[in-house]
This record gives sequence, C-alpha cells and structure tokens, in this order.
Amino acid sequence: MPLSPNINVMLKAARKAARGLSRDFGEVENLQVSRKGPANFVSNADRRAEEVIYEELHKARPDYGFLMEESGTHTGKDTSHRWIVDPLDGTTNFLHGLPQWCISIALERDRTIIAALVYAPMADELFIAERGQGAALNDKRVRVSARTRMSEAVLACGMPYIGHGDCDRFVAELGRIQGEVAGIRRFGSAALDLCWVAAGRFEGFWEHGLSAWDIAAGALIVREAGGAITDLDGGDRWLGSGDILATNDSLHQTLLARIKG
Ligand code: 2AM
Ligand code: CA
Repeated sequence: MPLSPNINVMLKAARKAARGLSRDFGEVENLQVSRKGPANFVSNADRRAEEVIYEELHKARPDYGFLMEESGTHTGKDTSHRWIVDPLDGTTNFLHGLPQWCISIALERDRTIIAALVYAPMADELFIAERGQGAALNDKRVRVSARTRMSEAVLACGMPYIGHGDCDRFVAELGRIQGEVAGIRRFGSAALDLCWVAAGRFEGFWEHGLSAWDIAAGALIVREAGGAITDLDGGDRWLGSGDILATNDSLHQTLLARIKG
C-alpha cells in the first residue's frame, strides 16, 4: 500500500514516540523492585510520548485539532480535521513488563475516521489503513479471518478491572459464549485487539466502556480489512459509547446476540 502524506506524518510521529517508549520499557523491569514501583515512571513515559506525537503532528498540520488521552481536547482552526491519539495503549501491560502495548493515532475528517495507524514497537508491527484503501500490516495487505463457525473462533475481550466495569455482566456474557468457541483471550490493549481482528488472528473482539482514543484507529483498520464494527446494541454509536464489537463480519450477528443475552 503506498503511504499517503497523512500516513507519513502519523508514521514519523509514532516512530519518534516509539523510540522513547521502547527505551522506557527497558527500564521498567529494573524499577519493578523499587519501593515506589514503576507507576510514576510509566505515567511520565506516557506523557512524554504524547508530547512527542503532539509536536510532530502539530508541526506538519498546524491547524488540525486534537483529542488525546493525557491532555484532552485542543480545538484547531480547522474544525473539520482532528487527530485522536493514544500515546500508550496497554499501559497496565507496559507497567508490568508485558510487551502487548502500542501507539494509536487516527485522523478524523468531519466526524469520519479517514486514516489510522497502530504501531506495536516490541513486535515491530505497524498497522495502517485509509478509508476506502484497505488495511496493511508491515506493507502487506490484511484481511479478516474467513472462519465462519463459532466452534473455530478465537475471540478477544476486555474484562472489568478494579474500579471499572460490571463484573456480573461480564461473567454472564462469558457464560453465553465460552462453551461455544475455540478460545477467549484477554490481552489488555484494545487498539491491538482490534488490529488482530483485522489481521485474521481473532474472529472477534468486544469490550465495554472504552475511550475514543482506544478504538478510533483500530476500528478503521478492522473495517478496511473487511470486518464489521458496531456498538453492543448493533448500532453505530461505538466511538461515543466505547462499547464495541469488532468481528470478521461472518460471526457478527451471532456474537451480538450472545453478548446482548
Ligand atoms: P490504556 O492502556 O490506554 O489505559 C483494556 O481493557 C483497555 O482499557 C486498554 O485499551 C486500556 O487503555 C483501557 N484501560 C484504561 N484503564 C485501564 C486499567 N486501569 N486497566 C486496564 N485497562 C485500562
Ligand atoms: Ca488506551
């Protein structure tokens, strides 16, 4: 897939942030044993990565607005374009020395996501998509999985964690699905879970209560790989509600029915 000017700008920002984050990830292991632990260190790493991404994107497109995990909303002169940035998705993994984390950048025009990039530095996997142009992983086109049977499906999901989510609802959803499928995984980075649906590694992914920056880029990557995205009522309010189901399309209605119960 040839890289457009927008994707090139996003890539430069992501690569620069990835260098800092990768260095910091190497330090995290040493910090695990310190009394204070690595939490502060990681939130600084996160903030620095966001600053780097902001600087690069702002330099290239000075009028565009921003929605970012750490610093929130910046309104641009150009009110139709907006970057949606998660500088570090999978923070809990990062903090624990687990390599499943990434940088996620999406570009919205008039409330439609038109370009997306997700970069996982530890695997050196770069996912990109542009609206109408397909999706790619490290220069190779990706397609969602062709598996059509629940019995063959491997799914990813989010789970409630301390102070967040409805444990009883999650257990009920799991109870309606797990006996029917080949496996369920919980990797802890929503942006990468979506990309792994796009790459055909998972047949589906669902989670409640995410933020726009967790899913904006990954959702376009799934759609451009031929997959389906809805909210958990089957509607299109996933970006605002953060309740999302992504699938290879074939299993969408079945999974939606199981999740709704
Ligand atoms: P984050 O790493 O950018 O915070 C996984 O359930 C998804 O939820 C991730 O994409 C993660 O994004 C988000 N999330 C937010 N707070 C979290 C927390 N305390 N623990 C796990 N995931 C969290
Ligand atoms: Ca996130």
